[in-house]
Amino acid sequence: MKSSLATRIVMVVMAMHAVVLPVLYFGLSVVVSRNQIDVFIQHVRTLSRNLAEELELGDALESRQRVLDMLDLTVLNADGVYAELLDNGQPIFSNLNDRGVSWPGKQDFSFGQRGDHIYFIEIPISRPGHVATLRLGFDENPTSEQIQLAMHQTVLVLAAYLCMAVILAAAWGYHFTRPVVRLQLASRSIAKGDYAHSLRLESGVRELHDLGGDLEAMRKELVGVNEKLRAEMIENERAGERHRNLENRLRHRQRLETVGTLAGGVAHEFNNVLLPIVLYAELALAETPEDSSAHQDLKEVLTSAHRAREVVNKILTFSRDAGAPKLKAIDLEPVVREALRLFSALIPPTVQLRAEMPGPYPLVKADAALTIQVIMNLCTNAYHSLLNAEGIVSVDLKSSVEPASPDGDKPPREFVVLSVTDSGGGMDAATAERIFEPFFTTREVGTGTGLGLSVVHGILESFGATITVDTAVGRGTTFKVAFPVAEALAANGLSSEPVAGVSI
Ligand SMILES: Nc1ncnc2c1ncn2[C@@H]1O[C@H](COP(=O)(O)OP(=O)(O)OP(=O)(O)O)[C@@H](O)[C@H]1O
Ligand SMILES: [Mg+2]
Repeated sequence: MKSSLATRIVMVVMAMHAVVLPVLYFGLSVVVSRNQIDVFIQHVRTLSRNLAEELELGDALESRQRVLDMLDLTVLNADGVYAELLDNGQPIFSNLNDRGVSWPGKQDFSFGQRGDHIYFIEIPISRPGHVATLRLGFDENPTSEQIQLAMHQTVLVLAAYLCMAVILAAAWGYHFTRPVVRLQLASRSIAKGDYAHSLRLESGVRELHDLGGDLEAMRKELVGVNEKLRAEMIENERAGERHRNLENRLRHRQRLETVGTLAGGVAHEFNNVLLPIVLYAELALAETPEDSSAHQDLKEVLTSAHRAREVVNKILTFSRDAGAPKLKAIDLEPVVREALRLFSALIPPTVQLRAEMPGPYPLVKADAALTIQVIMNLCTNAYHSLLNAEGIVSVDLKSSVEPASPDGDKPPREFVVLSVTDSGGGMDAATAERIFEPFFTTREVGTGTGLGLSVVHGILESFGATITVDTAVGRGTTFKVAFPVAEALAANGLSSEPVAGVSI
């Protein structure tokens, strides 16, 4: 059966006393009774000897009455029950002798002998002319009662002592087990995953105190390991997320590259086909009279051919076959202002155009004309997303710093971020996923080629800039373009010419 430590301590203390107390009681009873008996015997012997001396030295023996008085006095004053003087063969008995008591024949040598509760003493009296013997008997009962009383008191004292011992054992057991119980509760909390409780024990018992210290050190170690594990798990999750993002971007990029290469090849062929069409149409146009219907037809051919060349050029820009742009270190602010000036001329007054550019900004690595093309495309898309051509298009420019990677592999990088935000209809996830694909458009046939964002993407790639989109149906859209700051101009072979009056 399981019992608490405190109960066990009490039981052990009681078991120990069950052995010790009877032995103690027995020892005490021997000592107490021997003491009382010694006092009694000493007393009655002294008394008897005094009486005998009186009889020997005085002349009491000569008077029977005086002997009687002395015997009576002895019986009366000293718990006597029997007094006799045998003088020359003649017994003289005290008048106060107990009726039922008679001389047993010889004196007692020990207390309680014969079980008659009377201690008999015989003393010879030597006095000339007399052969006398003094015989006295004393009651043993008062002494026996005193011994019993003393033993009762001893039992009471021992019982009180036992109670005290049990109470002390219980109190000590509680005091001893309290830190252990606290330790137990704290361990249970730890088992449930709550590591906040300290396992240190405030105990005067060295072993318990040391055990608490060791367990507390273990707990701290456990907390440290746990925190490390949690941090590693979070880091792993982040790394997994980064990895998935990178994979997605890579897949997206590969798809764009495949489509771009294909489109680039087709565009080249088209260019070759379009060149003679344009040339011969222009020649034929010059040779036909202006008012002839053939002249009008040729004009239509030329217009279509020019539009076809525009499309082809867009595809070439997207597929980066248009040749590497000449990158310079430029200040984006005047470039953005120029683009907005051009854009504001194209939109109706129902569209609010807002710009926020709390410059100055660091120079970025880009091409001014192509940057204007990018901004125009983003703003045009924003304008097209507005329902009934009503709403807000805002453009802002901010400096931003990407912190160094935690492992220190990548140093911090500085960017200037261009944001184009609209209050239009936004996009669902499936649309947003495909917007950079060439010829992907949700606009009506004939109104959009689906090449605008492909061109933007191609241009930004050549700058080393990145574009991200944040959109949701009904919430509007924000495109963010991060232009890397042109830090080491010389190292990159860039020049930092000011940009002014840029146009496309
Ligand atoms: N700001 C925007 N809000 C909502 N949808 C947008 C936005 N920008 C782009 N899109 C979506 O992305 C598609 C592709 O855009 P992209 O600029 O490449 O082509 P387009 O605008 O349709 O045609 P193009 O630009 O060639 O005239 C758009 O048809 C539209 O569905
Ligand atoms: Mg567009």
